[in-house]
Amino acid sequence: MSQHNLTNSPPGPKGKLFTGHLKQFQADPLKFLTKLTEEYGDFVQFRLGPFQKIYLINDSDLIKEVLVTKQNSFVKSKDIQTLKTVVGDGLLTSEKNLHKRQRKLIQPSFKRSHITNYGEDMISTTQNYISNWREGEEKLISKDMMNITLGIISKTMFNMNFEEGAESIGEPMEDVMKLGVNRMRSIVKLPLWFPTKKNRKLKKAIQALDEVLYEIINYRKQELEKHHEDLLGVLMSAKNEDDGLGMSDKQLKDELMTIFLAGHETTANALTWTFYLLAQHPEVEKKLHRELDSVIRSGLPTPAHFTELSYTQNIVREALRLYPPAYIIGRQVDKDVQIGKYHLKKGEMVVMSQYVTHRSKRYFEKPNSFIPERFEDDFMKILPSYAYFPFGGGPRVCIGNHFALMETVLVTACIAQRYKLTLAKSHHDVKPQPLITLRPKHGVRMVVKERKSN
Ligand code: HEM
Repeated sequence: MSQHNLTNSPPGPKGKLFTGHLKQFQADPLKFLTKLTEEYGDFVQFRLGPFQKIYLINDSDLIKEVLVTKQNSFVKSKDIQTLKTVVGDGLLTSEKNLHKRQRKLIQPSFKRSHITNYGEDMISTTQNYISNWREGEEKLISKDMMNITLGIISKTMFNMNFEEGAESIGEPMEDVMKLGVNRMRSIVKLPLWFPTKKNRKLKKAIQALDEVLYEIINYRKQELEKHHEDLLGVLMSAKNEDDGLGMSDKQLKDELMTIFLAGHETTANALTWTFYLLAQHPEVEKKLHRELDSVIRSGLPTPAHFTELSYTQNIVREALRLYPPAYIIGRQVDKDVQIGKYHLKKGEMVVMSQYVTHRSKRYFEKPNSFIPERFEDDFMKILPSYAYFPFGGGPRVCIGNHFALMETVLVTACIAQRYKLTLAKSHHDVKPQPLITLRPKHGVRMVVKERKSN
C-alpha cells in the first residue's frame, strides 16, 4: 500500500480511481481493516467507490469522542439506514428526537429487575431445548444456538413457546433478513417500489411479517386488562414522562421488529463462539465445570446464580472480545467536526471496528489468545473505556447489553452443566465470516457428550 500524503488529513493507501478499496474491503473486511491499522496507525483514511471517504479509528479516546462526547455531530451510517426498509423507525435506525423519545420510553423495560424475570425464561427455554440432546450426537451447534436464542426472545417478548415463535415470526424474519442483506450489499439500491423480482419478494415478506406483528398487538390489546410481564406487555404500558403518551401501533410494531432482530442473532453468535473457544481450551473448560459444580451443585441454574458465576461471565466477556458479534460500527458525519487532530466534513464516514481494537497489543497482552482470567481483578476499570466495546457506547449503546450478557452466561451454564461439546472429527477450519454480524463461516459442528460429574 502506498502512502497518500495530504496535509492535515490522516494517512492511508491511495486506492483505485473509481472503486477505491471496495474490492479489498468486500473480499475480507477483517483482514483489510487489520492491515490498514497495522500499516497506518490509529486514524486511517480509505475510500469505497469514487467519492465516499471513510476514516477508520482505532484509538480508545478517539472512539469515545465519536460515540460519546461528540456524538451529536454524527448520525448512523447509510448501511443502517437501508435496514429501515425492514425494521422501519425502530431504535436501531431512528435518529435525533424520535430516537431520544423512544429510548427513554423503552429503557425501563430493560432494567435489571425486568431482566431477572426474563432470566427464568432463558433457563427454561434452554433446558427444554437441550433435554432432547443425546450422547454422541453430532449437532450443528451454530443452528442450535440460533434456535435457543430465537426461543428465548419469543418467550420473553411475546410469551410464545419456541415452535410458535419460530413459525410465526422467526421464519418470515429469516426470509426478510436474507433478502434485506442482499439489498444492503448491492451497490445500486433501486427503491422498493421498483418492481424487480427481489424487491417484490422482499416487500411481500415484510408485509407478511408486519401483519403477524399487528395481529399480536391487536390480540394483546383486547386482553390488556390481564397484566402481562413479557416485554410486549411492558412496552405496551410504557408512557412518556412528559406528555403521558404511549406508542402508536406502528411505532410499537417497528420497535418489536427491531428488538426481535437485534436480539437473537448477535447472542446466538456469542454463544457459538463461546462453545467453540471452550472446545479449544480444555483448561478453561475444566475451570468452568468446577465453578458450575460449586455454585449450582446438582440443582438447576437460577437467574440468581448469574452474579455468582464470575468465571463464566469472564469467559463470555473474553469470547466477545475475540469474536465480537457486532464487529464494526459506522457513523456518518452530520455536522463538520474535529476528531483528534483532524477535521471531518459532513457526509464523510467513520468506522470503528471492535474486532480490530479488541485485538490491539496496546490494550491487551497476548491479544489473540483466549484468556478469560484477564478480566479478573477489576481489569475493566484499568482498561481505557473504549478499548473494549462489544456493545458500542454513548446514547446508542446496546439497549440489550445486560439482557445479552445474562442470556449468554445462563445458556452457557445450562449447557455446560450437563454436556461437554467437542468439535466434530475432521471439522473444517473455523473462520469468522463478517456479514451483518460476525458468525463462523459454514457453522460449527460439535459432538455432545454427557458430563460425568467430577
Ligand atoms: C451479544 C449480543 C449483542 C451484541 C454484541 C450487541 C451489540 C450491539 C451494538 C454494538 C449496538 C450499537 C450499534 C451502534 O452504535 O451502531 C447495539 C444496539 C442495539 N441492540 Fe444490541 N447487541 C446484542 C444483543 C442485543 C439484545 C439481546 C437486544 C434486545 C433484546 C439488543 C437490542 C439492541 C437495540 C434495540 C439496539 C439499538 C439501540 C439504540 O440505538 O438506541 N441487542 N447492539
